[in-house]
Amino acid sequence: MSLLIEGLRVEVAGKEVLRGFDLAMGPGEVHVIMGPNGSGKSTLAHALAARPGYEVTGGSVSLDGTDLLSLSASERARAGLLLALQQPLEVPGVRPVDLLAAAGAAREGLREAMSGEAARLGLRDELLDRFVNVDLSGGERKRAEVVQIGVLRPRYAMLDEIDSGLDVDALGAVARRLDAATREWGCGVLAITHFRRLLYELTPTMIHVVSAGRVVATGGPELAEVLERDGYEPFRALP
Ligand SMILES: Nc1ncnc2c1ncn2[C@@H]1O[C@H](COP(=O)(O)OP(=O)(O)OP(=O)(O)O)[C@@H](O)[C@H]1O
Ligand SMILES: [Mg+2]
Repeated sequence: MSLLIEGLRVEVAGKEVLRGFDLAMGPGEVHVIMGPNGSGKSTLAHALAARPGYEVTGGSVSLDGTDLLSLSASERARAGLLLALQQPLEVPGVRPVDLLAAAGAAREGLREAMSGEAARLGLRDELLDRFVNVDLSGGERKRAEVVQIGVLRPRYAMLDEIDSGLDVDALGAVARRLDAATREWGCGVLAITHFRRLLYELTPTMIHVVSAGRVVATGGPELAEVLERDGYEPFRALP
């Protein structure tokens, strides 16, 4: 039972962005990826979610023993992987309930389940009736992504800068929701972030520092403090 990424290489627009990325995590664990702008963090998330244009040229990824890379995007979602995007997209014409039902949530009691999740995150309930992300503020979109996680209960949730755009109260609510998810259904949380603040109420099992497309350092929660103090210069990988 684990998410195993081994030697992953990914090319985007003809350029190798991930250059042998390794990460192993188990259920209920919280793994945090930190690293400078352009180091390949979002590329990892997109490649794992099978976004077109992100070409895997080497390495392997398995989710609970299944070869993830041989699956389509929707099969990966069904296998239990969910990606909350750095910039959630508007989907005009599609309501959140229909999106979640299409993603496999049971229709029965779905709207109530969404309301319960929204309340935990301080998200106004009426926003759940708008088209997906349309006319939502940046922080509301981020909270709406976390509503999806609470309803769909993925085995592994990847969150790409979920904290960016959240106000300080929302940040705490999101961190607590994710922390609870690790216990409620053993959700594995893979969180990409630039800031330690997300980790005040979401205790990392491990922090991974990425530079130029690979993990260059791994450590416990104390690593986030070191990064905040010293920046990434001491961790810079050779190009
Ligand atoms: N679709 C794309 N087309 C061209 N280049 C891309 C594309 N996606 C990513 N890149 C390039 O790949 C590199 C890594 O980008 P990525 O978005 O993975 O960085 P990141 O670590 O998430 O950075 P940030 O902290 O700014 O979000 C960058 O140089 C970026 O310009
Ligand atoms: Mg990014």
